Amino acid sequence: MSLPRFAALALVVAAAFVWACSSPEPRFEAPWFELPADPAEYDPIASYDYMPIPEQNPLTWEKASLGWQLYYDPRLSGDGVRSCYSCHTCENGLTDGRALAIGAFDKQLTRSAPTMWNVGYIENLYWDGRAGSLEAQAKGAWTGGNMGASDPEAIVVKLNQIEGYREQFVNVFNEPATVENIPMALAAYMRTLIAKNSRFDRWQAGENDATGAAAKRGWKLFNDFGCVECHAGVLFTDQQFHNVGIGMADENPDLGRGKRTELEQDTGAFKTPTLRDVSKSAPYFHNGSVRTLEEAVRLMAEGGLENPWLSPKLEKQKISDQQVSDIVSFLYSLDEPCTLTAPPLPPK
Ligand code: HEC
Ligand code: HEC
Repeated sequence: MSLPRFAALALVVAAAFVWACSSPEPRFEAPWFELPADPAEYDPIASYDYMPIPEQNPLTWEKASLGWQLYYDPRLSGDGVRSCYSCHTCENGLTDGRALAIGAFDKQLTRSAPTMWNVGYIENLYWDGRAGSLEAQAKGAWTGGNMGASDPEAIVVKLNQIEGYREQFVNVFNEPATVENIPMALAAYMRTLIAKNSRFDRWQAGENDATGAAAKRGWKLFNDFGCVECHAGVLFTDQQFHNVGIGMADENPDLGRGKRTELEQDTGAFKTPTLRDVSKSAPYFHNGSVRTLEEAVRLMAEGGLENPWLSPKLEKQKISDQQVSDIVSFLYSLDEPCTLTAPPLPPK
């Protein structure tokens, strides 16, 4: 071995040694998430339905841990400066807090980033439901405009040169990183992002003081005003697509689900978003056109925005300032304590 090559190797070994000693193993810790020994028993929240986990991508700690690192690693992106987490942060309720997201190479995107809470339960991902699985979604987010990895093979080569990744991929998938198994690891991690610790949940579980009087009145109003028709169940979404009129007055409206299905009734329809952690994710709706939660609640209670495809499920209702404020208090009781942390990443 030539001296420069030996020096380079020695440097890599030394760096790996320093890394191994200084930072702890990237051990996956998720106090919010417990995986039973038998994945068939995976039912993290008694009142939540069983989370469907695809047979082709069983969930294991090692896989979720690998996905956790990839989710936070800017080396996955086309421009090397953003990670999945960049647009789905704790402070913003696992969104980016912008009206419209700004993707790789600072390209302006056309929609607002939705929250990641409970995405493992969502059958059709994205505002228009165009991805039928988290694996397909993760591949889209990675290779499309969000992360801008338009040449994913090149990123795969780069990742496989990182010993810390290569080893983990071989351990988890019996092969080095590929364009297919990277999204599988990301999906496994995202299935652990479960919101179930809000004050509302504690109140529902019998802890009477967990929420105040205004939030309790708000919960009743949320039912009386028919919000639960669409923001249904513990996920606060029926997972269906409805036109509530947002953006329909634009010159070239985003047709949402309608563009996918080409069905007349889906024109301008978007997936009902969950309302968990919604207080942190302003501005609101698929195009971020509404600044505050008060305005969003009022708009919905008053029956959405008039247009030829408006959902028949929406009713024009009168709502007082006090009622808006109570519903907003209830929505704040859905705040989720965010315990996500950044993992140590394998060095070059
Ligand atoms: C530039 C900001 C940005 C980055 C980076 C980003 N996302 Fe997103 N994400 C968005 C936006 C915007 C949407 C909504 C797009 C749409 O519906 O058309 C979205 C949607 C999603 C959804 C769908 C949620 C739902 O309820 O349907 C998931 C899951 C998701 N992203 C995961 C990821 C993963 C995994 C990565 C990294 C590979 C990632 N995101 C990187 C902005 C981003
Ligand atoms: C017909 C179904 C339906 C009903 C009823 C309904 N919503 Fe919605 N809601 C939606 C859909 C669909 C969206 C997303 C629309 C879009 O972005 O184009 C939404 C968005 C929202 C948002 C913005 C969330 C975000 O992350 O941007 C809030 C807040 C909200 N609704 C609250 C309410 C309240 C409060 C009520 C009752 C007064 C209500 N909704 C009734 C379907 C419904």
